[in-house]
Parts: sequence; C-alpha cells; structure tokens
Amino acid sequence: MQFSYANPTQIFFGQGQISSITQPLPNDAKVLVIYGGGSIKRNGVYDQVTKTLADYEWYEFSGVEPNPTKETLDKAVAIVKEKSIDFILAVGGGSVIDGSKYVAAASHYDGDGWDILTGQYQVSSAVSLGAILTLPATGSESNMGAVITKAETHTKLAFLSPFVQPKFAVLDPDVMKTLPEKQLLNGIVDAWVHVCEQYLTSQHGAMVQDGYAETLLKTLKSLGDSFDQRDNDQWRANLMWSANQALNGLIGSGVPQDWATHMIGHEMTALWGVDHARSLAIVQPSLLRHQIEAKRAKLEQMGINVFGLQHSTDLAEKTIDAIEQFYASMNVDTQFSDYESTKAQAVDAVVTQLSEHGMTKLGEHQQIGLEESRQILEQAIA
Ligand code: NZQ
Ligand code: ZN
Repeated sequence: MQFSYANPTQIFFGQGQISSITQPLPNDAKVLVIYGGGSIKRNGVYDQVTKTLADYEWYEFSGVEPNPTKETLDKAVAIVKEKSIDFILAVGGGSVIDGSKYVAAASHYDGDGWDILTGQYQVSSAVSLGAILTLPATGSESNMGAVITKAETHTKLAFLSPFVQPKFAVLDPDVMKTLPEKQLLNGIVDAWVHVCEQYLTSQHGAMVQDGYAETLLKTLKSLGDSFDQRDNDQWRANLMWSANQALNGLIGSGVPQDWATHMIGHEMTALWGVDHARSLAIVQPSLLRHQIEAKRAKLEQMGINVFGLQHSTDLAEKTIDAIEQFYASMNVDTQFSDYESTKAQAVDAVVTQLSEHGMTKLGEHQQIGLEESRQILEQAIA
C-alpha cells in the first residue's frame, strides 16, 4: 500500500440540497449550466437550478447526449470562450458530467479538444466545475475521470485529470424519482462493476479497501434484491451514496485495479450504442471465467463475504454464477445478441477497435491481450 489520496469534492447530500450551491459558487461567477436531453425540465430540477441562480449571470447549453460526443461538446466550448464563462454547472447523469469535464478542459486549450483524449495534450488547467447529479451510477460527480466519444469514428476514450474534478456535487435522492427503471438498474450494475474492478484482482491484504468494497457490494446486492421497494427515500439514498462511494477513489487507493471489463465494454457502446452498464454485464462474467485462476482467491473471498457461500473447491466458479444470477434477477442480459452481422464479424469488430485504441494489455496483470479479449468475446457475444 503506497498512495496519495484526496477527494476535494464537497458533497451536499440529501433532499432540498440544490439550493446549497450558492455557498461554494462565487457571487461573481459567470456560469454555464450544461444539461442533457431535457429530463431536468420534466422533474423540477431545472426550476430549482433557475431559482438558485437568480442572482448570478448564467447561460445554458442543452442536448448533451448519453455517451457524450465531442462534436456536441465543442459547441459548448465555443460558448465558454465567447462568454468568458468561469464556472460550469453540470446538471445530469454521468454523460452530462463527463461532457462538462471535457468542456471545462477543452476551453482552456487552443487546439482540438480531442487531443485531450488521445493524450496529445495533457490537461494543465480547466474552468471550475460543479455537479448536480440526477442519475447515480458512474461516480463522475466526485472523481477526475471522463469518457468521451468521437461520433465520426465511433471512438470512445477516457481521460483523467485532477483539474476537472468537480468542486462540489449535489446528491439529492429526490431527483431519482423520475428515473426509468432501466436507468436505476444501470446504476446498480455500473456501481457494482466499479467495485469489482477495484476488488476482484489478486489478494493484497489491504483490509480496509477490501472490507469497504464488500460493504458496498452487499449494499448494492440488497438494493437489487429489494428493487420492488425502489420508490422509497431510504432505497434511493442508499443507491445514490453507494454509487458515489464505488468510484470516488477510496477503495482503489493503493491496490491493484483491473478495468478490462470497462475497456472492452466501451467498444461495444461505441460500436452498437449498448448502454454503458449493460455492456459491463455482458463482458464481466465471461471475463471472470477466463481469468479465474488469476482471480481465484478474491472470487472465493467474495463468494463467502458478499454472497454468503460455503467453502468448496469450486467456490470461485460458484461466485461467478452468483454474479450472473444477480444480473439475471434484474433482467440484465449477460450476453449480447443485438448485432446485425455474423457472430464472427461482431467479435472481430470489437477486437479491431481494441487494437486501434491500444487496448492490448488489459487487466491488473496486463495479461489480457487481443487474443484473450477475443476468447472473452466469443463467450460474451451470443
Ligand atoms: O439527457 P437527459 O434528458 O437528462 O436523460 C438522461 C439520459 O437519457 C436520463 N436521465 C438522467 N437523469 C434522469 C434521467 N431521466 C429521468 N430522470 C432523471 N433524474 O438517463 C439517460 C442516461 O444518462 P447518462 O448520463 O448517459 O447515464 P449514466 O449516468 O449511466 O452515464 C453513462 C456515461 O458515463 C460514462 C459512461 O461511459 C457513459 O458515457 N462513465 C463515466 C465514468 C466516470 N466519469 O468516472 C465511469 C463509468 O464507468 C462510465 O464509463
Ligand atoms: Zn462504469
């Protein structure tokens, strides 16, 4: 264990907290509110934001799509530059918050913002950013990551920078009331896989990280199991907080991390528009089976501590089955069949994307090369 850790995002958690943003938001800030396709206009969040910003000079940019594209976001970059915006308020799910991070960084750069994703430009400053979360899933509201798509080439890439970490995030569980069932399930699955990516690796003996990861997994499992009680304040609050804690940097500090499921899943989203969380449920069981020897000890630990299974020689296998059953219990598919080509072409398409994007050494031991990804995809694609 060797790490440096800070999470500088101030969290305002609870009902009615949107109005609290006037505390961290400087009085003289020139604000650009960025949001998505309009859900915030239908659930009262937009009205609350308008009321809260009454004494500020502010502008708005809407239309950030799920899996946000640089093509759309560059239009917001132009507004930031033209109006000399000095604070961005992202109001939405992971896509809006990620997109706002790109806008914040690209606005302080004269070249093509896509250079940030390819690594040609290293972010060294950004417009300040705050977030009002409307969909608990990604953890983007209090981390430094963002995933952006270039629609032109079907490329989905991520970048990390402390300069785009939100200064504050509002987590008001009431905003979840209008979320479609499908998005609530996506939230559970995405947060679940975030914990797995940082926990299901090799045994390292970091007891706090493992223990907290298991608490989060047990929480998410019980939220999935009690999905019929989702119209309940406590259920919503627990999902919102666990999804946040799953990817705010804490459980991943000083331990090996995997992220191969995410990298392969991103390619399926870029190719076929599969929802982010759905892509993870498709890849993960097959990836775990492929990597079972490297992950056996942690799978056994998860089987006992999360699923309450008994010791047995096939405990790791049973744990993967339990994960798969958990997805099935929520009607989340664990195989992909929604492609138009042959299966061989579908597998090839993903492998080609991985190769083009340099995803040739994935996993905590960098042992998932293109051939291994191909074998994983053979099982994940129906
Ligand atoms: O656009 P609007 O109209 O707001 O509708 C959205 C969108 O259609 C809707 N929605 C959001 N809040 C709502 C609501 N509908 C009703 N009521 C509400 N309160 O939900 C739809 C999906 O939203 P989106 O933001 O795309 O979902 P999510 O939060 O799952 O974000 C997914 C994106 O985040 C990236 C993914 O790759 C994907 O692009 N990720 C970001 C990460 C990060 N920054 O750390 C990590 C993740 O692993 C992930 O890769
Ligand atoms: Zn994710």
